[in-house]
Formats: sequence, structure tokens, C-alpha cells
Amino acid sequence: MTLLEAIEARHSVRAYRDEPIAPDALVRLREEIRACNEAGALHLQLITQEPTAFGGLMAHYGKFDNVRNYIALVGKKDAGLDERLGWYGERLVLLAQTLGLNTCWVGLTFSRRAGKRACVIAADETLCGVIAVGYGNTQGSAHRSRPLRECCHVDGEMPEWFARGMEAAMLAPTAVNQQRFRFTLLADGAVKAESTGGAYSRMDLGIVRYHFALAAGEQDFRWA
Ligand SMILES: Cc1cc2nc3c(=O)[nH]c(=O)nc-3n(C[C@H](O)[C@H](O)[C@H](O)COP(=O)(O)O)c2cc1C
Repeated sequence: MTLLEAIEARHSVRAYRDEPIAPDALVRLREEIRACNEAGALHLQLITQEPTAFGGLMAHYGKFDNVRNYIALVGKKDAGLDERLGWYGERLVLLAQTLGLNTCWVGLTFSRRAGKRACVIAADETLCGVIAVGYGNTQGSAHRSRPLRECCHVDGEMPEWFARGMEAAMLAPTAVNQQRFRFTLLADGAVKAESTGGAYSRMDLGIVRYHFALAAGEQDFRWA
């Protein structure tokens, strides 16, 4: 499965089979986490066989079942942290999908206290959420989507690469499926991506920008 196929196949999955992540998939995930931490100046960590972060009432109300593995979204507190977590976290989500795994971004409905106990957080770092990972009971289902035109602006005809990028952005996970972002094709050909507000919308922006870049071909355009 390619990353573009993973964009189409991915849906949030909240209930998992009782099956540990295969050793070769663990190796690939850990390698990619190391690469993301280096490129993004982050402290992402894969926590395995740890049931307590999703053992409490929050996770129960959030309909999570049998989550034992997750990626802790940790980094130094700064203005760009949420957006970088979105970009690099989604890189891990799509890799996981190609490895036959399922995922779900989780900002709220887990035990932050238990998550903090399970990972390493320096004094100047913060845990912004987690991504549940494992073999799902199902593959999940497609989310409802806003009309693509509500989330972008192009004067004149939309170039094909921009349309490809937008279609991939519309398939991306966003908090409560809010899809509060806008991509604008500027007169000089650059693409401006911005959030239009809402909780977690900076993290959402990193996620949707990653989808857009993969599908539009980052070598073929530049960000404003
Ligand atoms: C930043 C972020 C935070 C999220 N937080 C939660 C959460 O706390 N609980 C939950 O059940 N789902 C959470 N989600 C998952 C979204 O509800 C889900 O991505 C959205 O409904 C779209 O569905 P899809 O991922 O299947 O395409 C979160 C997603 C994102 C991107």
C-alpha cells in the first residue's frame, strides 16, 4: 500500500483486537518516530502494551476499547508545536496504515495522567495528546465531509495538482471532524494554508497540510 492509498484507506478506529503489534512493524514505526523526532524537533514516543491510558471512564465514553498501544505526542512548548505534531503525527499514522495497522488521533478522551506516567516528559515539554495504534476490529468508516469548495479559494480554474491536494486534505482526520481549514492558491502560485479556528485546529492544520503535500506533490508547488 502506498501513502496515497493509505490516505484513502485510513479511518479512525477505536476498538482493537487483542494482538500485539508485529515485531517488524514495531521496528518500522520506531525508525520513523526517530526520523520524525529529528526532523521536527519533537519527542514522540511509542508506548506498547500499556492499557491504563485507555482504561478509564473518559476512554469508555469515547467508545475506545482495548487500546494498548499509542504514540505519545510530546514536544517542547512553543508556538509551532501543535502544527508540527500534526504534520509528523500524520506521517506516522499513514505509515501505520501501510503496515496493516489502524489508528485514532486522541486529544481528549484518554487518561492524560496515565499517559504522562507511561512516557518521558522533560520539564519544558508537554503531552498534547496521543495516537492509538493497533489492529482494529474493523477498518472504520469514511467521515462526512464539508464541500471541498468551502475549504479552499482559487481565482479562476483550479489546477489539477491543487484539486488532488484538496481531495487528500478532505480525507484527513480533524478534531470532531471539524475540517476548519482553508487552502488558498495565491496569484504567485504559492499555497497558503490556514486554520479557521476551533479546538485543536493548529494540530489539524499540520495534518491536512501533510495530506495536501503528499497528494499535490510537494516538489511541484511551494508554501506561502
Ligand atoms: C487533533 C485531533 C484530536 C482528536 N481527538 C479525539 C478524541 O479525543 N476522541 C476521539 O474519539 N476522537 C478524536 N479524534 C478523531 C476525530 O474524531 C476523527 O478524526 C474525525 O471524526 C474524522 O474521522 P476519521 O478520522 O475516521 O476520518 C481527534 C482527531 C484529531 C485530528
